Amino acid sequence: MHNTVKVTDKVYWIGGNDRRTSLFENMWPIPNGISYNSYLIIDEKVALVDTIEFGSSDDYLDKIEELIDGRTIDYLIINHMEPDHSGAIKTIVEKYPDIKLVGNLKTFKIIESYFGYKDKWYQIEDGDELNLGHHNLKFVMTPWVHWPETMMTYDLTEKILFSGDAFGSFGTLDGGIFDDEIEFEEYYKDEMRRYYSNIVGKYSNMVQKAFKKLEGIDIKYVCSTHGPIWRNDVNKVLSLYDKWSKFETENGVVIIYGSMYGNTAKMADSIARKLSEQGIKKIRIHDASKTHISYLINDIWRYKGVILGSCAYNSEMLPTMENLTRTLEHMGVKDHLLGLFGSYSWNGGGVKALHKFYETIQWELVSDPVDTKGIPGNEAFDRCESIAKAMAEKLKE
Ligand SMILES: Cc1cc2nc3c(=O)[nH]c(=O)nc-3n(C[C@H](O)[C@H](O)[C@H](O)COP(=O)(O)O)c2cc1C
Ligand SMILES: [Fe+2]
Ligand SMILES: [Fe+2]
Repeated sequence: MHNTVKVTDKVYWIGGNDRRTSLFENMWPIPNGISYNSYLIIDEKVALVDTIEFGSSDDYLDKIEELIDGRTIDYLIINHMEPDHSGAIKTIVEKYPDIKLVGNLKTFKIIESYFGYKDKWYQIEDGDELNLGHHNLKFVMTPWVHWPETMMTYDLTEKILFSGDAFGSFGTLDGGIFDDEIEFEEYYKDEMRRYYSNIVGKYSNMVQKAFKKLEGIDIKYVCSTHGPIWRNDVNKVLSLYDKWSKFETENGVVIIYGSMYGNTAKMADSIARKLSEQGIKKIRIHDASKTHISYLINDIWRYKGVILGSCAYNSEMLPTMENLTRTLEHMGVKDHLLGLFGSYSWNGGGVKALHKFYETIQWELVSDPVDTKGIPGNEAFDRCESIAKAMAEKLKE
């Protein structure tokens, strides 16, 4: 028996775990791995919902074979064309040449440039239904979560939402597949936020639009393409994604700095200590030159307070901080309290550049930036304390 899991009587999880890849999308570190979830509905007609990354599971076809037991696959529903879900399309089509590829016009525009297969296209529109016998599927267009063609498939019969990347998470499924079989808070929540903030976060307003479209739909299962399947506390994953896409944060502070020789770093520690003395417990400090940006963005998505520091570097910020602030601008991250600090030796540049970032991003600056010449002394530390006090006050409001 291959490792397949029943979601309901006739719906199977046939995904795979990837513990080998170091960087998802060749960008994001995945020390906890990732799962590619694919689903098979065995009814009068057989439908496959999304596939997996090419080569990520060498028994993918065997799993399908075992479950369909000599039958063919009638439909492959493509909720998302990104290669981590479409990587096995070619293999599937070659094995089941009568298959119909179910997608919307934007999906096919992408498929055209990847695979072709025009004779197999089965184009559906928003709200269209597809009857498999017992199961009746309805397609819900949710564009730009996080590609233009993204859609969800809702099984009206068993109230299963096949949501694509939405409600997904980094982290492999280590035995437990369903939300009631895992330790979500300890293990997955942080990885789910890191996944959301880095992969989907830029499209938060489109996530909100998707929520509007799902309003009133009774969802008993959320079957995403990455991470656990939700069946016990569906509301939890929905409300987390709702909160994150509204930029709702916790009352804490993340301090992120770029520092070559430790002067800016010292100020970061001093600000953090003063925040702690003000009663703030959720405080995280990161060195942007060491910690991968995906973790920095994750903590920015988590905490209301963001305090950024940089030494001057060729009249600008340290490049690692430049990369972070530029990414935040591109993502259009909203609703934070901001503090700024740094060190320089002649004409400055780091804090000035951070101030330009502030003018673009328009978060609320809690107090004057602290730009220190050389090694910070008592005066600089006093001014750091002012940032901490102003931040703590705003957070307590
Ligand atoms: C490559 C390099 C470029 C620098 N560029 C500037 C600059 O443009 N303006 C300035 O005032 N200081 C500049 N500095 C000096 C540092 O900003 C200064 O030593 C600062 O105190 C370092 O802070 P840190 O200990 O947090 O790295 C530069 C230093 C280096 C090594
Ligand atoms: Fe994707
Ligand atoms: Fe994905």
